[in-house]
Amino acid sequence: MDKIEIVGGTPLRGTVHISGAKNAALPIFAATLINGGQYTLSNVPDLKDITTIIHLLVELGAKVEKTAPGQYLVDTRDAGGFEATYDMVKTMRASCLVLGPLMGRFGRAKISLPGGCAIGERPIDQHLKGLAAMGARINLEHGYVEVDGSNGLVGARITMDIVTVTGVMNIMMAAVLAKGTTVIENAAREPEVVALASFLNAMGAKITGAGSPEVFIEGVSRLGSTDVTIIPDRIEAGTYMVAGAITGGEVELTGIRPALIANITDKLRECGCQIRENGDGVWLKAPNVIKPVNVNTSPFPGFPTDMQAQIMALLTLAQGASVVVENIFENRFMHVAELRRMGADITVVGNTATIRGVQKLSGAPLMATDLRASASLALAGLAAEGQTSISRVYHLDRGYERIEEKMRALGANIRRVKG
Ligand code: EPU
Repeated sequence: MDKIEIVGGTPLRGTVHISGAKNAALPIFAATLINGGQYTLSNVPDLKDITTIIHLLVELGAKVEKTAPGQYLVDTRDAGGFEATYDMVKTMRASCLVLGPLMGRFGRAKISLPGGCAIGERPIDQHLKGLAAMGARINLEHGYVEVDGSNGLVGARITMDIVTVTGVMNIMMAAVLAKGTTVIENAAREPEVVALASFLNAMGAKITGAGSPEVFIEGVSRLGSTDVTIIPDRIEAGTYMVAGAITGGEVELTGIRPALIANITDKLRECGCQIRENGDGVWLKAPNVIKPVNVNTSPFPGFPTDMQAQIMALLTLAQGASVVVENIFENRFMHVAELRRMGADITVVGNTATIRGVQKLSGAPLMATDLRASASLALAGLAAEGQTSISRVYHLDRGYERIEEKMRALGANIRRVKG
């Protein structure tokens, strides 16, 4: 298995281009199934999770062709399958995103129930509750959920008990072809939800309110084909900003919309970073002294859970104590034990981590446990004294495009060791 080796201590300097967002691309690939048509997707990041969703679409009968770097032509006219198997869902739980589209297109879907994963239990009860409210029958058997809406889905008012990103996406995708209007209350407001709604509207759907807690979907009888450019990845952007901050460097991001990452830039400013924003770029200069801050993860527009592990790496070197509260996932502190092995002073009680800043971290052999935890360890390694090696690096490859190449272009001493 591949490893990443990092020799820390070099301040990162230079410009890095931000890739398309994994979590916007995945639902848009899935959404092409709703209507048999041809779609060109551009600014698609080259990631393992993208390969997985393409594999799933092909299993379901779609044709997917890479037409240029970051560009795919997806043809779903002959798609006919309606099952996401255990093998697919266990590889990537976002495979569940085909549930809504298959309900919209065929009125039926069979999806392997995702089990728990490294960061928490992550059930899909809210997705199913929404579909049931629209008239679907739900049957759980042998680890699979079979959803039958063959009598036709009917628009409904659905109040989510929990703010869920992929839950709202699935309900939106099932509702675009339903009879009548669906209202989703307490909806997730993430930019990726808005990006999906824009794509669906470009196909001919009638969705309003995406990006607010109340989304209205007026069912239409047919949709058409369209093309789309994937929005930039705000979590990749935040990760490179922390890379600049933690190494005492100065980085410029291009291809990012500053408004997408205000929740991250605000926090980094509190830490003492100087940040300037222009049209599609952000410039960050690290502070001489990292200030401690308190972080509470919450649904958008709050601080993203997907940046919690990375900012914690930065806070291990702050002058003073910070408190980080993880409110979204119940087990998202897997990076803590590894950061401690590098010399960090962190105590965890329940969902609250107290981080007392130390003078320095020291490089160590580490084990990646999930995508964002791996990013946190890489960031800590960039700032640490000596060598850090991170194994199980396939987690990083799920969500960061060409990470060593991009970090090396900023001056990092980082390399991949094939194993
Ligand atoms: N939840 C339920 N029932 C449901 C759905 C969710 O209890 O039916 C709970 C979850 O267990 C969790 C909370 O609600 O405690 C929020 O989960 P959510 O459904 O919003 O997460 P998700 O849609 O499965 C997406 C991203 C995650 C990101 C979360 C939160 C994709 C493909 N994944 O997951 O991204 O952390 O939203 O913002 O969009 C990542 O990229 O590293 C990643 C994990």
